[in-house]
Amino acid sequence: MCGIFGCIIREGQAVKLITDGLKRLEYRGYDSVGVAVINNNQMDIRKDKGRIEEVVSELSILEMEGKIGLGHTRWATHGAPAYENAHPHTDEIESIAVIHNGVIENYSELKDELIDKGHIFRSRTDTEVIPHLIEEEMKSDIGLQGAMLRILRRLRGSYALVVLSTHEPDKLYCARNESPLVLGISGNGTYCASDVPALLPYTNQVNYLRNGEMAILDIDGFSIIKISDGSEIVRPNTEITWSPEMAEKQGYIHFMLKEIHEQPTSLRDGLRLQERYLDLLTQFLDRGKEVFLVAAGTSYHSCLAGAYLFSKLARLTTFPVVSSEFMEIYGSTVGIDSIILTVSQSGETYDTLKAIDHARMRAATVLGVTNTVGSTLTRVARAYLIQQSGPEIGVAATKTFTSQVLVLAQMALRLAKNRGKLSQDELDEFEIKLHLVPDWVEETISKSEDTVKKLAKNHLDESLFLFLGRGISSATALEGRLKLLEITYIPSLAYPAGESKHGPISIIEEGVTCIFVCPRGETHNHILGSIMEMKSRGANIVSVCEEGDEEVKRISDEVIEMPRGIPEELTPIVYITPLQLLAYHLAVLKGLDPDKPRNLAKSVTVP
Ligand code: F6R
Repeated sequence: MCGIFGCIIREGQAVKLITDGLKRLEYRGYDSVGVAVINNNQMDIRKDKGRIEEVVSELSILEMEGKIGLGHTRWATHGAPAYENAHPHTDEIESIAVIHNGVIENYSELKDELIDKGHIFRSRTDTEVIPHLIEEEMKSDIGLQGAMLRILRRLRGSYALVVLSTHEPDKLYCARNESPLVLGISGNGTYCASDVPALLPYTNQVNYLRNGEMAILDIDGFSIIKISDGSEIVRPNTEITWSPEMAEKQGYIHFMLKEIHEQPTSLRDGLRLQERYLDLLTQFLDRGKEVFLVAAGTSYHSCLAGAYLFSKLARLTTFPVVSSEFMEIYGSTVGIDSIILTVSQSGETYDTLKAIDHARMRAATVLGVTNTVGSTLTRVARAYLIQQSGPEIGVAATKTFTSQVLVLAQMALRLAKNRGKLSQDELDEFEIKLHLVPDWVEETISKSEDTVKKLAKNHLDESLFLFLGRGISSATALEGRLKLLEITYIPSLAYPAGESKHGPISIIEEGVTCIFVCPRGETHNHILGSIMEMKSRGANIVSVCEEGDEEVKRISDEVIEMPRGIPEELTPIVYITPLQLLAYHLAVLKGLDPDKPRNLAKSVTVP
């Protein structure tokens, strides 16, 4: 997730607006910054890694002159934060500058093709193929518009991109597929940005570019063109009534709620993993004598779900362990044949880094799944995958949990394929279901939010909750409990349901609320038994179950219904979303700030 801003103005200097706009978008990404302007048909580009304030002052960006330009703040997805990976990227003679947010899936085949034609690449980004593709198409005399349409039809993946070129020095070309881009217009000019907050100081008249659309901006306004057939689209502008603070959260009251709602998008991005790294990681997993899944907090719950996925799909035994206990339990046995798969959103959690330091000292192979390119984890791991969730501002992990489980599911599936553990039909079927996950999450969030709000009201004065699930749903139950605990401070327990009769059942008395995670699948019959155990002792039963699951509904007091047909192995990604919402709405009803829970930090970098 990156920040994009572009403008063409009558009065003032474009860089002033660009740098102000980028500051308002810094929550979208902040590892590198770059600006390009055109003045007297000369392109001036300045960029580097670092925060906006630093880069703007070190490169004297505010001295750049011109009435047209673009700027970018980066959240690395391909290539570490570094000067050469910062946007804009250009063709060889710097006549075309491109900024981009998203992931170009087919960049390596496009790059190989361009290298064969003699293009020289300077970065490790997927974005750099775009200016080179435009340069190549411009050779056939079809003009910038023609070249843009041709190259856009070849790009696969997600993008919001803006192009500035000395070929047409008074225009900006923008395009969108799955990554947001919004256009704006005022008496002083025309603008584009990845989010509304950057535009609000200049205009409240905006037009949201849609998937498959390209826009051409000039000083008088913009035209929108359908990429597939080049036809023009006319759509009225929208008037924005949000305050700047609301706009930063896209109209949501809190970042946590915005991030919960962002999950369909972050999951779609999470399906675009880099194939070669997916292969590399699974090869390592296959070779190890023993595989440990090491993480803390929510990331540990992802690992728990991961252990079920690796076992059920790929028949690989793994040992999930919380980072802070790794040295105590496995420190003296871990060795050259061990694989440590570390999962960490930040890539900076102290306990996790300590565990992998120790494992590396004993010659084990460390792999990573993280959201943060350039983090310590990406520097020390032999290989890593980026989970593509984009920055998460709310302290409670939401979209990063679902992306992590999705990444682990894809690793398990790839390993199953390489090991021949599933038939081709089973592989194909699972692959199709994986791609349905973002839609299921979208459906769940939109259908369940009202039910969850009512549930939160009904249980506002509760002093204790018990979360139970079986099989992979025990990971969902643990994560649901962690969300509730973190932001509402209501004491609660979570257990694999089968364990409840070995202790937790003693706390059950009339009216205690038990939340059961009970998808259809292998664990369904067992969970019915667990519900009855609790119900017969007076518990109030809230079940998260499949739509139309009459057996569960009959014995529950309240239910949250989930889409049909989700394979049990993928349910943590979908079934966790109403539990995230429940924690959120309870916190808000209690007057607490869910974005900043007491005593907690987003990244725990101390012992
Ligand atoms: C929970 C939460 C924390 C983190 C934990 C690990 O909502 O955010 O429990 O999951 O501190 O952080 P990472 O994944 O950055 O290693």
